[in-house]
Amino acid sequence: MKILITAGPTREPIDPVRFISNRSSGKMGYAVANAAIESGHEVVLVSGPVSLPVPAGAVFIKVTTAEEMYQAVQDQIDWYDVLIMTAAVADRRPAKASKNKIKKDRMESFIELTPTADILYAVRDQKKDRLHIGFAAETDNIIEEARRKLVKKRLDLIVANDVTRPDSGFETDTNKVTFITRSGLPLELPVMSKHEVAVNILEWIEENA
Ligand code: CTP
Repeated sequence: MKILITAGPTREPIDPVRFISNRSSGKMGYAVANAAIESGHEVVLVSGPVSLPVPAGAVFIKVTTAEEMYQAVQDQIDWYDVLIMTAAVADRRPAKASKNKIKKDRMESFIELTPTADILYAVRDQKKDRLHIGFAAETDNIIEEARRKLVKKRLDLIVANDVTRPDSGFETDTNKVTFITRSGLPLELPVMSKHEVAVNILEWIEENA
């Protein structure tokens, strides 16, 4: 299968020295890319800024902002059989980035936030009979919140995780996730390595494609 994976955070520039971003390390997305390659799939990996080695065998597209990530997904829209959005896309960006460093006493008046594109939502009508998989990093009402996103973004599977746990979420090598689909009960997996989570996702894809 042809699998398009997004990973890592995006960075939204404020000025030449500052940006808005988040704690995503890219580990989960890179684990999915590596597991997909190991299973013999073709992989295009669209990645925000992370400090991880590029998976051997993947076509690698490096991006910085949410807009660039959206463009990269649109560029691959006719290519993939499965889209897996593990990226933690920034939801807001400064309406305009300053060319010059903003002096601290002008910060509040300068930074006006504007929404970025919701990539999964934006491509929902182009999904057709392909698989779209999302991730939901949550702190409260994990299952309900993840299910709301599954429906709104018209996904086949959402992988929810509790980012308040020390063994799950950002920067860790392990994850505790729950698979939520449109039909059926949530499937809660035990704590496992991100590689093992990735293998479980690939098995789900192979059963449901
Ligand atoms: N996502 C996306 N584009 C965005 C934000 C998120 O495609 N601008 C994708 C993520 O890659 C993830 C899924 O949507 O697969 C859920 O992301 P999340 O940040 O949890 O959801 P949001 O829609 O941002 O919802 P909220 O801010 O209400 O938690």
